[in-house]
Amino acid sequence: MVTILTDIIHINRENYKREELLTVARVLKEGGLVAFPTETVYGLGANALDESAAEKIYAAKGRPSDNPLIVHIFDKNNLMDLAETIPEKAWKLAKKFWPGPLTMVLNKKEEIPYKTTGGLDTVAIRCPDDVIARDLIELSGVYIAAPSANLSGKPSPTSAKHVIHDMMGRIDAIIDGGDVPLGLESTILDLTSDPPMLLRPGFITVRMLQEIIGEVQIDPVVLAKKPNGDLKPKAPGMKYRHYAPEGNLCIVEGNQTQVVETINRLSQQEASKGKKVGIITTSNETELYHIGKVFVIGEREKEETIAAGLYRVLRELDEEHIDTIYTESFMDDDLGQAIMNRLLKAAGYNVIKAE
Ligand code: TXA
Ligand code: MG
Repeated sequence: MVTILTDIIHINRENYKREELLTVARVLKEGGLVAFPTETVYGLGANALDESAAEKIYAAKGRPSDNPLIVHIFDKNNLMDLAETIPEKAWKLAKKFWPGPLTMVLNKKEEIPYKTTGGLDTVAIRCPDDVIARDLIELSGVYIAAPSANLSGKPSPTSAKHVIHDMMGRIDAIIDGGDVPLGLESTILDLTSDPPMLLRPGFITVRMLQEIIGEVQIDPVVLAKKPNGDLKPKAPGMKYRHYAPEGNLCIVEGNQTQVVETINRLSQQEASKGKKVGIITTSNETELYHIGKVFVIGEREKEETIAAGLYRVLRELDEEHIDTIYTESFMDDDLGQAIMNRLLKAAGYNVIKAE
């Protein structure tokens, strides 16, 4: 891949003016690649209706070409430009949750190239809740296809630093809008079936969706506690090994005392073999661990801080070249469903019971 010059545009959100985005908006309009912040994670954007621009995204990320992109819009009415049939439930959800961390899969309009949808007749659409993202879409005059702005297989970027690490020299520009507030990718709901089906859990939980549209099915892959070759995820991207740190990550389940004892015992064994050990824990429990390096993911009582810290911690572990990682387990209902879904994938479903 040829190295290109990547511009970095720093935005200070306190006195931000949308004119600051005019140059990068033009880059997008002309078929270039620009990384930008959203409320979930940083996205790597290109004109969704320009086949060759969409193709460049796959090259920059090293992403398999059957993995479709999410198209970003700035206003819910933009849906009509992209989706062929829009069920009443989609409008209800758009009204309630957009702008926000919900992606809806609908039947695509012919104009959307198959390069953008990974060959599918459906398209994933999201209206992000970030002023920079929405201004950028509006100013560019094009809808923006954007996967997360990480190299394929790496954790999604939650700060510009992560994007710079993965994408410098590969794309035209990076907008630095600081750390993202949420830190996990959007909820994906497929509305081409009825009842609609949850394909990826996120901040908009199943319970929140049910309150608006009634019954919601869940793709069995989302609920799986173990890899199962017979289950094929409906969101193609969910089949790839994601987020995996370089070291061997193991989730330890059980009551707190037993988890701490088990992690301390196993860490001791690993350290004695000369392994560099890392432990993922919450700020409440850091003093309980005696061996290895402790990585604080967030606060146990504030689930949203755990969600926001997960990808940061996975990247820190790689920076420190940790060989063996133990993590505490977290609740798996509501937002916890999204947290544990990502953590299980990062660990390759490697879970042990503390005893
Ligand atoms: O929060 C987010 O959604 C972020 C920000 C940048 O908006 N984007 C993001 O994109 O997470 P990406 O490409 O990393 O994940 C998109 C997921 C993949 O698992 C993909 O397979 C699925 O969405 N997807 C996209 N289009 C689809 C479709 N038509 N049908 C089913 N799944 C689809
Ligand atoms: Mg991604």
